[in-house]
Amino acid sequence: EKGGYEHFMLKEMYEQPKAVSDTLNPKHDPHIVDGKIVLNELGMTDEEILKIKKIYIVACGSAYHTGVTGKYVFEGMARIPVEVDLASEFRYRNPILDEGTLVIIISQSGETADSLAALREAKARGIKTLGIVNVVGSSIAREADNVMYTWAGPEIAVATTKAYSTQLIALYLLAMRFSQIRKTVSEEEMEVMIQDLKRLPDQIELLLANKEKIQKFANRYLAAKDVFFIGRGVDFAISLEGSLKLKEISYIHSEAYAAGELKHGTISLIEEGTLVAAVLTQEDLYKKMISNIVEVRTRGAFVMAVTNEGNIEVEKASDYVVYIPQTNSYFTNSLAIIPLQLFSYYVSLGKGCDVDKPRNLAKSVTVE
Ligand code: F6R
Repeated sequence: EKGGYEHFMLKEMYEQPKAVSDTLNPKHDPHIVDGKIVLNELGMTDEEILKIKKIYIVACGSAYHTGVTGKYVFEGMARIPVEVDLASEFRYRNPILDEGTLVIIISQSGETADSLAALREAKARGIKTLGIVNVVGSSIAREADNVMYTWAGPEIAVATTKAYSTQLIALYLLAMRFSQIRKTVSEEEMEVMIQDLKRLPDQIELLLANKEKIQKFANRYLAAKDVFFIGRGVDFAISLEGSLKLKEISYIHSEAYAAGELKHGTISLIEEGTLVAAVLTQEDLYKKMISNIVEVRTRGAFVMAVTNEGNIEVEKASDYVVYIPQTNSYFTNSLAIIPLQLFSYYVSLGKGCDVDKPRNLAKSVTVE
């Protein structure tokens, strides 16, 4: 059932090109038609989309991290204010849900107790809800007013990889659809974005082929005590996910930081040899990120940078570089996550941890 792979996690990482492609453009309901984004299954009218004044994205764990990416994408592209919330916080804090608010719940399993409770809370207040769900017919899929499915297929490894990647795609598609209707993006820009979207599966494949290099590098960090992940903008969102992946399966403590926040505390934790994974995919933020890299290296950190092809400046400024192919700046998380997933996997493997079933964790959290 592992199809020749040593672990489900590795198999599922390798299924990402297909999962992403199936979610982008499901055969039974194509989402890209004549250079436009069409989301028939969503069942939201143009009028409803035009009336949205605010979006809440509510989820747990990695699904919450895709929500953080979603905030940057929705606000940047569709110019709709977005608040991202952890389901276990949202449901207990009497959130302000006015008319014109859309609540998006993201969940692979569709059964996470807090996410389901958050959905019910929003519905009870008469607010429109949209579920981004992987398991067809699950509770969240059944109860949300509108559903957008991700097509990752069954995910067995506790640490999510392919479901995470498909949730990102669903958010890009939604943001593009909303932008199209609200006319916040020109037709030309939309065409370019669609071409970039279509290239993602092949680009992910290319990055997966790098696994030996990443394994070699990962093997140097099996005894690490702390690892830090830093980024700005969507790269901050991916730092959150890179950090969670590492700690949940390798039991190495790690933290994600918005790079500009380092000097407000965390930088005191950097010691000689501490690994800092710096993600730099946003051209307008390169300079700021490079100065953050210099800050940590001055204090002895070893910097692994994940950046866009051709970013020579970063190569000079860091100790180890992984390049990702060129894509639209909104979509870079889909590529930058691949080396970070591989890194966590190989650290876990090298340490002899139970990669697919890390201690104390369950695949679907149905308790509150
Ligand atoms: C981490 C992971 C969890 C889930 C979280 C939400 O690798 O898998 O953090 O993302 O428990 O689960 P779903 O998406 O099923 O609601």
